[in-house]
Amino acid sequence: MKQQRILLLIGGGIAAYKCLDLIRRLREEGVSVRAVMTRAATQFITPLSVGALTNEKVFTDLFDLNDEQEIGHIRLSREADLLIVAPATADFLAKMAGGHADDLASTVLMAIDKPVLVAPAMNPRMWLHPATRRNVAQLEADGIRFVGPNTGEMAERNEAGPGRLAEVPEIIAAAKAILAKPATPLRSVRSKAPLAGRHVLVTSGPTHEPIDPVRYIANRSSGKQGHAIAAAAAALGARVTLVTGPVALPDPQGVDVVRVETAAEMLAAVTQGLPADVGVFAAAVADWRPAATPKEKIKKAKDETPAIALVENPDILAAIAKPGARRPSLVIGFAAETRDVVAYAKKKREAKGADWIAANDVSPKSGVFGGDANTVHLVTASGVEDWPKLTKDEVAERLMRRAAEFLKQSAAAAE
Ligand code: C5P
Repeated sequence: MKQQRILLLIGGGIAAYKCLDLIRRLREEGVSVRAVMTRAATQFITPLSVGALTNEKVFTDLFDLNDEQEIGHIRLSREADLLIVAPATADFLAKMAGGHADDLASTVLMAIDKPVLVAPAMNPRMWLHPATRRNVAQLEADGIRFVGPNTGEMAERNEAGPGRLAEVPEIIAAAKAILAKPATPLRSVRSKAPLAGRHVLVTSGPTHEPIDPVRYIANRSSGKQGHAIAAAAAALGARVTLVTGPVALPDPQGVDVVRVETAAEMLAAVTQGLPADVGVFAAAVADWRPAATPKEKIKKAKDETPAIALVENPDILAAIAKPGARRPSLVIGFAAETRDVVAYAKKKREAKGADWIAANDVSPKSGVFGGDANTVHLVTASGVEDWPKLTKDEVAERLMRRAAEFLKQSAAAAE
């Protein structure tokens, strides 16, 4: 990132203090940083400390005649390679999505044609509010990139959920990734993204079904394929909700991640995530869960082996694929089998009401579970396509491009 110029728009939230560290770390990377602060941001940190760290003049007011003569808002945006908005509040996201330009920060954003990276931070309820969901979808369709928010404790006591500002190293990694790619003008990203304006809902990972407070039933799913699909959909311009069971993977860029443990929680999160244009059910949901989960750990008793009675879990794919107003236009399921892969997948497509089934062989010899490659047979209403052995990232991109094509054709047919 050496020699590159970042314009940092600091929004008015409690997380603004983390921008001081962000500026220091960016400068350590050899980047020059100029900062614009919203009026609210100056309530949280002072322009003086920001200026001391950037070693540049700090801009706060659109109508400062001296500033405009010295370096106007147009020049501020021209003289940057990347613009970072951090922390982006719910209000600032709304302004961005609506194209407002009533202060210096929003005016600079309207004038910029360079990549924009947004690091939101707000209360989880505000992040999950339908208005914020709409605004984020619009901004993603416009080619704006997101990092975070992360899930965890809030500054407010007893509040937790998605809404924490991404950590400084995560923001820097996202900035590096954007700057490493040849600059694509923002406006061309907007019109080209095949899934722009679409909402893709993906399930991923295993589920954990508790036996007692310390033990659970699980499976070997790594979540790699589901996470790759979420990342591919986001890269193709979709707003993406990823509902994931416990996995050891980082959150994909620009994706709303909802973490769950059990199948019942996954079904609830998926239902809450609707409506969606595409639903991709890549999670390896446990078929059964223990019928009862005692509050205390089951103790080992002499000459007594406990029996675990199981009950069936809800079938999330089948539930969402049922005809109805909230059914996604395209429902894609996965079929992981150890034998007769395609035959089972065909049956599964009909039994569960899915449009497509991506079938794959997960027998131990295939190395699919936990591995990076996948050999998929795509079963649709019109037949079976045998895809070559591809990486999980390639499978994900191919599947999401096919989904974009499907949506385009259905839209054309409906006209
Ligand atoms: O486990 P099974 O082979 O039936 O999984 C096929 C598809 O159904 C997968 O896409 C999986 O994500 C989905 N599924 C589900 N809920 C379940 C079981 C499976 O969504 N309880």
